Amino acid sequence: MEGFFQLQNASHVLIVASCVLLLVLGQFPSWVSADVHYYDFLLKEINVTKLCLNETILTVNGLFPGPVIRVRKGDTVYVNVTNQGNYGVTLHWHGVKQPGNSWSDGPVFVTQCPIQPGANFTYEVIFSDEEGTLWWHAHSDWTRATIHGAIVILPKEGTTYPFSHPDGEDVIVLGSWYTGDLHKEINEDMETHADIPHSSGYLINGELGDFSNCSRGTTYRWSVDYGKTYLLRIVNAVVDDELFFAIAGHNLTVVGLDGSYIKPVEMSYIMLSPGNTADVLLTTNKPPGHYYMASRQFLTEKEATPDGYTGSAIIEYTGDYNFSSSPIFPHYLPQSRDMTAAVTFMGLMKSLANEDYPVSVPMNITTKMFITVSMSELCGDRTDCNITAGRGNILASSMNNISWVNPIVDILQAYYRNVSGYYTTDFPDWPLVMYNFTKDTFDPHLAISDQGTKVKVLNYNESVEIIFQGTALLDGAAVHPMHLHGYAFYVVGMGQGNFNNETDPVTYNLVDPPKVNTFIVPRNGWLAIRFIANNPGVWLWHCHFERHLTWGMDTVFIVKNGDTEETSLRPPPPYMPPCTGYPNNILTKKWSYAGDVLDYL
Ligand code: C2O
Ligand code: CU
Repeated sequence: MEGFFQLQNASHVLIVASCVLLLVLGQFPSWVSADVHYYDFLLKEINVTKLCLNETILTVNGLFPGPVIRVRKGDTVYVNVTNQGNYGVTLHWHGVKQPGNSWSDGPVFVTQCPIQPGANFTYEVIFSDEEGTLWWHAHSDWTRATIHGAIVILPKEGTTYPFSHPDGEDVIVLGSWYTGDLHKEINEDMETHADIPHSSGYLINGELGDFSNCSRGTTYRWSVDYGKTYLLRIVNAVVDDELFFAIAGHNLTVVGLDGSYIKPVEMSYIMLSPGNTADVLLTTNKPPGHYYMASRQFLTEKEATPDGYTGSAIIEYTGDYNFSSSPIFPHYLPQSRDMTAAVTFMGLMKSLANEDYPVSVPMNITTKMFITVSMSELCGDRTDCNITAGRGNILASSMNNISWVNPIVDILQAYYRNVSGYYTTDFPDWPLVMYNFTKDTFDPHLAISDQGTKVKVLNYNESVEIIFQGTALLDGAAVHPMHLHGYAFYVVGMGQGNFNNETDPVTYNLVDPPKVNTFIVPRNGWLAIRFIANNPGVWLWHCHFERHLTWGMDTVFIVKNGDTEETSLRPPPPYMPPCTGYPNNILTKKWSYAGDVLDYL
């Protein structure tokens, strides 16, 4: 693997320090060994041809998707990033909890400022209880469209999987392709208030596959032997869409989700939100031949048009047999609007919850939040908000009617150094007004949100429950894949309509709920999650649709320190990228629209 080498002896002090921290945070049952790995990530542009056009994309080490990071549970990785591109970038290690180490988490203007062209920065990525598959991606602008890759976390030395050892494995990164210069377009659209770009195809391991123009020659192919069981590590790295995925002729047995194992679920298809990763077993016991694997958009916005692109790749059995006919397509791949297929699949996810893989669902909740996730509007003219016409207002996304604005100095630095003026601590635990969230008709005032950099502060070890409530405001009902940095959370409940405080908690699964870092709030429904705030630091949480994140569907938890050094945020590394010279970007968050919101969804 490019840029990869390992030092066995050089970093014992660091290993010991990390392990002590992990032990105190209660993430390890006993003393364990851990390795340290070093990667060099060079951000540089390469030329590629897609859809018959020559394009330039920013990559890591010239690879698309980027390099796979391969570790064992509990290891530490140093990634030295050198930016040879033309604009600032940050990287994030999606689903890696990084105990006490927000400094290396990466979301731009939340835990750091961008790594500028010509500069470099070393991330220290600390693994704790994660095992299975996660991923890494850029976390600034929309750069993650081409800057992403998988993280493979093997069981510790001397331990094994909770299923029989697979005969082989493969990484499948699902991506989305944008024609043209996405970075330039996004920045222009923010200034001109135009609609944001939509993808022009779905990728499997960087290739559009057989159903797109000028793509056939490079379709991703994977050869398998007959009669084996393979572990597929699937990443949804798509920018703005959820995906169904299936393999013709073969069932998929899902055994892991977001870096935690689950009770095996055998299905003909899966659905992954952007941010989700799945470990899937595939048994190659079908007539030797070639079979398509395919991905299709799962779309929930009412009026939006399914984009109709299907990403594809080919599984080929090795051996001598007749390849004459074209590969078989998975005809049971759900259609774009198949809400039932998506919700059914997500509802089947359950933690192992056994002696070896116990759950610890918080039972005595000390902090409860009820949060609307919604499309909304900002006043186009602050003195005369044109509510009735809806014209001249600015389309936004919000949580509890607050649309997030990035500060110009990252929250982590402002918090650590006690500098005021960059954020406030008044993110509301409840919507300011209660209303019928899922009703199609609504008072237009309800859709007007505030802008702000409002964070929620949690005490160390707080037991937190959040109910996310989807809304129908502005005809914008949709699923939202909510993602929390620094944690995995238990999904204890989900349902349709408005959350009912009396009848819905009775339905909670507190026995074997799945533990994930990203999960969908059903369209016009609710999602209940729980976690213990035992990771001190500054942690972003947001909808993992880039367009909703850009429009303000994000906020931050500041989790205070515990009583000891080991339960506290670590001091910063000697160098962090400087935050000088950034314009106050409150203005660039505005997206005005002169008509129908639906055009913009
Ligand atoms: Cu996949 Cu905020 O990240
Ligand atoms: Cu969203």
